[in-house]
Amino acid sequence: MKITVVGAGAVGATTADNIIRRELAEEVVLLDIKEGVSEGKSLDMYQTAALLGFNTKPIGSTNDYEKTKGSDVVVITSGLPRKPGMTREELIGINAGIVKGVTENLLKYSPKAIVIVVSNPMDTMTYLALKESGIPKKRLIGMGGALDSARFKTYLALAMDVSPLDIHGMVIGGHGDTTMIPLTRLATYNGIPVSRFLSADQLEKVAADTMVGGATLTKLIGTSAWYAPGAATMMLVESIVRNQKRIVPCSVYLNGEYGQKDICMGVPVVLGRSGWEKIVNLRLSDAEKAAFEKSAEAVRSMNAALNL
Ligand code: NAI
Repeated sequence: MKITVVGAGAVGATTADNIIRRELAEEVVLLDIKEGVSEGKSLDMYQTAALLGFNTKPIGSTNDYEKTKGSDVVVITSGLPRKPGMTREELIGINAGIVKGVTENLLKYSPKAIVIVVSNPMDTMTYLALKESGIPKKRLIGMGGALDSARFKTYLALAMDVSPLDIHGMVIGGHGDTTMIPLTRLATYNGIPVSRFLSADQLEKVAADTMVGGATLTKLIGTSAWYAPGAATMMLVESIVRNQKRIVPCSVYLNGEYGQKDICMGVPVVLGRSGWEKIVNLRLSDAEKAAFEKSAEAVRSMNAALNL
């Protein structure tokens, strides 16, 4: 198994670090345009092998795609991150050019790879990658819902003072502060609806905190987060390479599912060795359906800016 991560910045390097620690592949190529950075970070990571005990080898590459040849999974994190006060949407122009070029280069050397898009605005970047590359839709996955769901579970666990491990919950819809939909109605604590433990006001606060979860961190840190984004991306890779068939909300191409066509946005999918294997159809309430439609409108208007 060979995995490539493009972008050796905060999210890409953390993703690669998580992947090698879990030995999800024999080789992990970390590629960046900045001279020496991916080589340096890869060597630094490899020096943890003797301390932590793993056998996966990270390999750095300054924009040499030959080294990525034959990758089974490729992850795209290249692009600008948010600064305080910026929305994910403001990144569109710059990141579209980067994601387009990177996808072309990756598929030239790894035509059969499963592609995971992380760069923001992620739903639009996933759609762009699909339209520009013509890759079969089941091999293209946008990472956003896995992270938003982890944040949702954490805020629920904090509100209830319990372990996040005992919380189940999902965030679907677009990966944006106003477009994501935390499904509070369906969230559970050990199978028991969280509404048995938290008031409507508390649940509303959890949902609101989740939606601005990324912005809260950007404000605190001064740039966008990386620990949870890197772990969430690794989790997608793990479900794929180990064929775990986990259900994870991911941005995928919809062709009528959830009432939407010709758009990529977050819905629960089963992730296995061939990519996303099927879309899980949740029976949404009328309010959730309306929120999903509104979210799709926002993603669609963002896609329109691409002029595809
Ligand atoms: P960063 O600035 O730390 O790293 C980005 C890296 O991409 C830099 O090292 C840069 O040199 C590299 N890069 C730029 N153009 C490139 C190209 N053409 N080829 C190869 N490498 C190139 O940014 P960070 O924090 O790692 O974020 C990366 C992206 O991920 C941003 O767009 C950010 O908004 C997004 N993001 C998405 C999340 C999600 O849930 N989907 C979560 C967190 C971040």
